[in-house]
Amino acid sequence: MEINWENLPFSYLKTDYNVRTYNRNGKWGELEISSSEYINIHMAATGLHYGQESFEGLKAFMGKDGKVRVFRWEENAKRMQSSAQGIKLAEVPAELFKEAILKAIKLNKRFVPPYGSGASLYIRPLLFGSGAEVGVKPSSEYLFLVFVTPVGPYFKEGFKPVDFLITREFDRAAPLGTGKYKVGGNYAASLIPMEKAHNLGFANVLFLDAKEKKYIDECGPANFFGIKNNTYITPQSSSILPSITNMSLIKLAESFGMKTERRAVPLEELETFDEVGACGTAAVISPIKRIVDDVSNKEYLFGNEPGPISTKLYQKLQRIQTGDEPDEFGWVTIVE
Ligand SMILES: Cc1ncc(COP(=O)(O)O)c(C=O)c1O
Repeated sequence: MEINWENLPFSYLKTDYNVRTYNRNGKWGELEISSSEYINIHMAATGLHYGQESFEGLKAFMGKDGKVRVFRWEENAKRMQSSAQGIKLAEVPAELFKEAILKAIKLNKRFVPPYGSGASLYIRPLLFGSGAEVGVKPSSEYLFLVFVTPVGPYFKEGFKPVDFLITREFDRAAPLGTGKYKVGGNYAASLIPMEKAHNLGFANVLFLDAKEKKYIDECGPANFFGIKNNTYITPQSSSILPSITNMSLIKLAESFGMKTERRAVPLEELETFDEVGACGTAAVISPIKRIVDDVSNKEYLFGNEPGPISTKLYQKLQRIQTGDEPDEFGWVTIVE
């Protein structure tokens, strides 16, 4: 099958292999290679009934030099361990995580999109309770699986500012809940607000803090940042996912000589930012041009074109990911 790399959607495309292993009696088994897209799962698995499930998302890029580079997998491994602690899953050791993602990439090397196509190989590690329980308790068995799929840019329009909707009708996660973990339930809770935003013509939802509805939390499946006075500002909140892209942009901003602040960001502060954006693995940065509050109908307007600092951050991060710039922060692993 011929793949049209330039027009790849951000969706699932079958590749040749995936890798999987079970944790039984507290021990991980050997990694198995599978060519099946299906898993045989017990109907009473805790992952199905009680949402005892976590996943990750990271990317690999083809460089000009023909080398495949994975971006910051160590951070995804750590975050999956944090998710595992948060919902009582068996933890995947970093070495096993690394072995699984590298194997999945190598086995599917023909699916790594070519340099310059704007597409990349999305890597999806998945971990869930696969053992049978009827009472609410952690599983005695876990499945860890990694599949990969080539994806195009998240936004078809490319690096262009998009609109976000503040929904006051819905919360994604509670302050002492599971928002800081990458677990399926958080995404289930975001489906209706996301659909509402899409139906009204917005790219996605901007969630406010669930308790007071005073502070900015995050942007659908991405973190929020704002820029003013040579400062990169991003919310500190117990209910948002610690984004690896955001963590990287903070480092880049510092390397540009900017100040950085991670703190509560009151909604009113939106009016004071020169540039705002959403950041995550899918798009790196989605600049924001308009934010609308669905109750007051208040509008916050930003530029119709990406701002200079967002553009500089976006380009720098992308160039590190593809190997166009030296990996000065040690963020890239070359798949040998
Ligand atoms: C809820 C949520 N916030 C933020 C992010 C961005 O995180 P990262 O930069 O690690 O992709 C993601 C995507 O993983 C997400 O699902």
